[in-house]
Amino acid sequence: MTNTTNPGLEGVMVADTRISDVDGERGRLVIAGADVEQLAQTASFEAAVARVLDAGATRALAVTPATLGAARAAAWELVPRLGDALDQPDGMDALRAALGHLRATGEPGGAAPYGDDPAVAVAAIGAAPVFVAAWSRRRAGQPAVAPDPALGHAADYLRMTLGRAGSADRVRALDAYLVTVIDHAMSASTFTARVIASTHADLISAVVGAVGALKGPLHGGAPGPVLDMLDAIGAPADAEAWLLGELAAGRRIMGMGHRVYRVRDPRAAVLEQAVRPLHSPRLELARAVEQAAARILRDRKPDRPLAANVEFFTAVLLDAVGLPREQFAPTFAVSRIAGWSAHVIEQHRTGRMIRPASRYVGELA
Ligand code: COA
Repeated sequence: MTNTTNPGLEGVMVADTRISDVDGERGRLVIAGADVEQLAQTASFEAAVARVLDAGATRALAVTPATLGAARAAAWELVPRLGDALDQPDGMDALRAALGHLRATGEPGGAAPYGDDPAVAVAAIGAAPVFVAAWSRRRAGQPAVAPDPALGHAADYLRMTLGRAGSADRVRALDAYLVTVIDHAMSASTFTARVIASTHADLISAVVGAVGALKGPLHGGAPGPVLDMLDAIGAPADAEAWLLGELAAGRRIMGMGHRVYRVRDPRAAVLEQAVRPLHSPRLELARAVEQAAARILRDRKPDRPLAANVEFFTAVLLDAVGLPREQFAPTFAVSRIAGWSAHVIEQHRTGRMIRPASRYVGELA
């Protein structure tokens, strides 16, 4: 007897949360009380970080652009002491190894066994862009660029990556991206973080585990392959034949489908709009490929709506902003580390150890 599904876990509530909510039928994402469309248009990444952390803690933690800037500066001091973490060819492996260097717990015998969560959270959120940008530069054979704590998080991340200031349009688009993907209810990586936190392990252990969960192509690893797909298709007229070939070969179309949404992922529209001012030559192709993919998948699976997910336009946006495709998944982590941290704080504050069950389908003696 085989068990290829996970019926015991599907849809099971593992936490009460104030951080975000996904309505997959209506295509609605609420982040700490605000619709994602509204948040992406009105909030900076720093404001969104404050919002999710405050929601997890249920009090104002006073996270500001200055505290995140100081955290980036503190992380920069660590860069020479990261051993070979940033030599890893994969950015997610590099980020996982580098984050593992952050101080995990408070002083022994401190108030909480896992340390001062808000302070550790800010350190981790500040460190992620510094480590990812330093990895990206090293990969390109260039020296790392020190953070400028006076800049906004998105502007500094782009500057540390490119080695020069990004244009205002690019910074705005990247900021909108970081806000849009900051949290998404009980995604696989967030669940991972909460499981780890639920054992009363520290926040760094939880976010390091979450990076591992995000790495896979079914979760955060999809946007690089989406860009590969757009390159391989080349022109709208060739979309259908290419997509049919992929399906015939038994492969999935990257950037399409979602475990929760039964309509188009609302973040796809937010990112599609955010990328418009950058006049990306890939945008028109992406729209055509999305339409062709939706049509083909509808014909094949009339009972299982499969529409574009967030990764489809993530690929177009991050490419237009100027990031190399190998940096797409780590950039997702640069944002989502804030959501994970909020969930860890909430889990430590309210949660019980998460211990799902498995169904034994093996032999009996
Ligand atoms: N392309 C082609 N077929 C797809 C598909 C895709 N992108 N997504 C789902 N399907 C098919 C499956 O093959 C399955 O068919 P089957 O019943 O004949 O086996 C059916 O639709 C149901 O898929 P299922 O695996 O139950 O969906 P899921 O909820 O587990 O998958 C994803 C959700 C996101 C993992 C899946 O849609 C996917 O792999 N998408 C591509 C990767 C991606 O874009 N990831 C980023 C997510 S934000």
